[in-house]
Amino acid sequence: MRIGMLTGGGDCPGLNAVIRAVVRKGEADYGHELVGYRHGWRGLIEGESMPLPLAVTRGLLPRGGTILGTSRTNPFKSDDGPARVKATMTRDGIDAVIAIGGDDTLGVAHRMAGEGLHFVGVPKTIDNDLSATDFTFGFHTAVQIATDAIDRLQTTAESHDRVMVVEVMGRHAGWIATYAGLAGGADLILVPEKPFDIEETCAAIKHRHERGANFSIVVVAEGATPVEGTMELQTGDLDEFGHVRLGGIGNRLQREIELRTGYEARMTQLGHLLRGGSPSAYDRVIATRFGIEAIDAVHEQDFDVMVALRGTDVIRVPLEAGVAQSKTVDQRLFDTAAVFFG
Ligand code: F6P
Repeated sequence: MRIGMLTGGGDCPGLNAVIRAVVRKGEADYGHELVGYRHGWRGLIEGESMPLPLAVTRGLLPRGGTILGTSRTNPFKSDDGPARVKATMTRDGIDAVIAIGGDDTLGVAHRMAGEGLHFVGVPKTIDNDLSATDFTFGFHTAVQIATDAIDRLQTTAESHDRVMVVEVMGRHAGWIATYAGLAGGADLILVPEKPFDIEETCAAIKHRHERGANFSIVVVAEGATPVEGTMELQTGDLDEFGHVRLGGIGNRLQREIELRTGYEARMTQLGHLLRGGSPSAYDRVIATRFGIEAIDAVHEQDFDVMVALRGTDVIRVPLEAGVAQSKTVDQRLFDTAAVFFG
């Protein structure tokens, strides 16, 4: 078979590990030929590809980013997008494509499957917001980076008697904030799942300082929102999938905290640092297992499925189910983190 591969949406640590695993088993064990499409769906629309022989994938396991490049291109944004994807696959003699991405990329893969094309999905995102899989790779690496940052901020916060606001990515789910906050011993975590009241937030900080603490660490997810009418919010531009660009709540929060409590506050926005660099050991392992399962699915001609982690098993689920629902933070997990608030 000739098998295409693409990485779409935001990059994340572990993408190259999936590519390496697919090529290794696909070429060495099954004798298939692998072709990479550049910059997500854009490569399939514009016919921009690169050969992916085994030699190209050597040394890829620890490498962050994606050697294929990525973009947030949506083929369904233009009338001829899906037809151009089809034309590229026909021209290149591609039997199936492994699409590695989040809900947007995988949603497109499922819609393209409806046009008679063969796709297998691999879920990735630092946000960990796909309901069909217990974890996506990239998430644990992002959590570790954020935790390391919180540890570092703690010593400078302590030295200056400051409130440190740490803003982390995660889109409309508070997974990174909750995990990193829990691991870093945050004194308050604000997540999109639970709109915050700025008065209560400041009261909790004051309460903590009145009990003898001289500093506080507040972790805020970029998608956290204040209870309606309690604090002004900014909004950003929309991407091709209609998602608003988030980021900036930490800044707003830092100013409000300073104003309302009188304590000195500083803000650190971790942003894309969470997506950069080498994947953790855990993410290398799931990424590799996902890649192997994906190439097995293609080899067995089991299409329109997505690989997923359930407990300790890697399984296949229908792509449609995989992208149907986003996964938000588990209340019991958040309650555990909340024991340490204030
Ligand atoms: O979905 C991954 C993610 O990193 C989100 O956490 C964040 O909101 C978004 O991508 C940022 O996207 P971009 O790289 O386009 O700024």
